[in-house]
Amino acid sequence: MKLIKQFDIILLLLWCILSFNFIENINSGPISSLSSCLSSIEGPVIYPNDTLFPSLIIDQNIRVNYTPTVLVYAIDNKDVQKAVKCAVELKRDIVPRSGGHSYEKYGLGGRDNVIVLDLTFVNGITINSETETAKIGAGNRLGNVYNQLNQAGFLIPAGLCPSVGIGGHALGGGFGYYSRKYGLACDNIISMEMVNAKGEILQVDSILNSDLYIALRGAGGGSYGIVTYFVFRIHRTPPQVTYMELAFNRANMTQVYQLFDTFNEVGPLLDDGIALKMRLNKSSLSITGLYLGPCAEAQNAMKEFLSKAPEPISIPKFIPQTFYESVETLSKSPNKYEVVNPVHHPNFFKAKSFVVKGKGLTRQAIKVLVDFLNGASCKILASFDLFGGAANVYDSSSSFIHRDALYCIQMESDWETKEQNTKCTDEINEFGRNFQLNFTSDESYQDFIDRDLDDWQTRYYGNIFGKLVKIKRKYDPNNLFNFPQSIPVQV
Ligand SMILES: Cc1cc2nc3c(=O)[nH]c(=O)nc-3n(C[C@H](O)[C@H](O)[C@H](O)COP(=O)(O)OP(=O)(O)OC[C@H]3O[C@@H](n4cnc5c(N)ncnc54)[C@H](O)[C@@H]3O)c2cc1C
Ligand SMILES: *[C@@H]1O[C@H](CO)[C@@H](O)[C@H](O)[C@H]1NC(C)=O
Ligand SMILES: *[C@@H]1O[C@H](CO)[C@@H](O)[C@H](O)[C@H]1NC(C)=O
Ligand SMILES: *[C@@H]1O[C@H](CO)[C@@H](O)[C@H](O)[C@H]1NC(C)=O
Ligand SMILES: *[C@@H]1O[C@H](CO)[C@@H](O)[C@H](O)[C@H]1NC(C)=O
Repeated sequence: MKLIKQFDIILLLLWCILSFNFIENINSGPISSLSSCLSSIEGPVIYPNDTLFPSLIIDQNIRVNYTPTVLVYAIDNKDVQKAVKCAVELKRDIVPRSGGHSYEKYGLGGRDNVIVLDLTFVNGITINSETETAKIGAGNRLGNVYNQLNQAGFLIPAGLCPSVGIGGHALGGGFGYYSRKYGLACDNIISMEMVNAKGEILQVDSILNSDLYIALRGAGGGSYGIVTYFVFRIHRTPPQVTYMELAFNRANMTQVYQLFDTFNEVGPLLDDGIALKMRLNKSSLSITGLYLGPCAEAQNAMKEFLSKAPEPISIPKFIPQTFYESVETLSKSPNKYEVVNPVHHPNFFKAKSFVVKGKGLTRQAIKVLVDFLNGASCKILASFDLFGGAANVYDSSSSFIHRDALYCIQMESDWETKEQNTKCTDEINEFGRNFQLNFTSDESYQDFIDRDLDDWQTRYYGNIFGKLVKIKRKYDPNNLFNFPQSIPVQV
């Protein structure tokens, strides 16, 4: 009798366990247990069954496309922490996205089926004019950052495409028209808040978690954790700046060589307040520039350059502007509205980057480049960002290694339909490989990330790669934060 009772109880228990598991299985298969875990997130959580979903995964480069499991739009640190804990608990991959401008769509993980932690709504900006610092949410777009800082009379040195996210941009370096004067965006990061793989918030600065501070400033995109806030050093905007535009004869090779000679020789000697971007394609050769001061000073600062450069094909433009007007002009936005309310302009593209050092490209290299542009079957543009000044100041507390660059070349091909994807990608890849081998340094720029680059570890991070791996092992030993070119746990 007693025995039977015990047996009954055991059966009852067994039934309970089994049926509980069964119910668990029907109600919480992989997806719905994820959705129940994410249900306490305050911000919008968007699943593929939402009509909004397809428009939220387009991003900038439509050459590659990935479909995440879910988009989590965090509104604060707590949301980020919750999402990271869910990812760990449910053994899911989680990937941070700020502006979605990664050239390889790494803001979506560079693969399908990840949890995307989007920071769009972590977009506070608090400016402290006295300390000349600003706390900036990682989800801000550069256009908003410039607009808001400008209203208080400040700037940060960064790129000028308004829809680029400050998060991915500053963590990979962030070069722009103010970098010769004030350094890269990453150089101006004083501190950060980062959610780590345990879902804890870490304060990161030159004292607290100082190894992570080094890693994040240049190698921080997607590898160590989710940065939610930055404190940047900000700089007073000059009352007047000068926008410059110079156009040259692309058809005459003597003149093409002469402009390169000038760029190579006079470029490094230019005042730090001057920024120059040279552009070369099949049909045109031009320079866009900015001087952080009045027009007469700009002309003076450019005197030697212009005297050595070939005869321009139109009168050089030196246009006095306010700082913010120059942001609008240089951003190449179709209208002012888009600078403060940036949108993506998705297109098919592939880009390569080459860091050029020493005396610059040789005549032979220029000839090879020009011949390639002339004969290429796809549309290709090479742009040359003049480095030097503050951008070249070596800083052992950053992971941006390209400090002895004369200029960084970006070679970009863009096209109209996906049928051209393979042809245009192969064309630029093959040329780029040989061109870098024969004519430039072996370094490339991590913010122009390139999945087809061999030995990217040393091209992006040089001899600090080993150190970056050690820091990765310390802060994310299980490699929760990963993408095809993330810092690995083991060399
Ligand atoms: C049109 C255009 C113009 C550009 N102009 C310039 C320029 O002038 N100068 C320049 O230096 N670069 C420029 N870039 C490159 C740009 O800096 C990089 O693409 C940058 O990584 C984009 O950042 P994002 O936040 O928009 O991208 P995302 O795709 O969101 O992120 C890029 C990478 O960083 C990671 N990441 C994003 N946010 C965080 C975060 N909060 N914490 C941790 N990791 C994060 C992502 O996981 C991903 O791996 C340009 C790019 C484009 C498309
Ligand atoms: C959409 O998908 C999520 C996650 O699977 C689910 O929780 C939700 O109920 C679905 N919504 C609709 C309207 O089907
Ligand atoms: C090309 O430019 C050089 C230098 O300005 C000039 O001497 C030469 O005549 C030009 N060639 C042609 C074909 O115009
Ligand atoms: C070359 O660049 C110029 C100026 O940026 C542009 O107007 C032109 O369309 C480009 N040409 C080609 C063939 O890409
Ligand atoms: C680079 O050099 C190799 C070997 O000398 C040569 O075959 C190749 O054509 C060169 N490529 C470029 C793009 O210069």
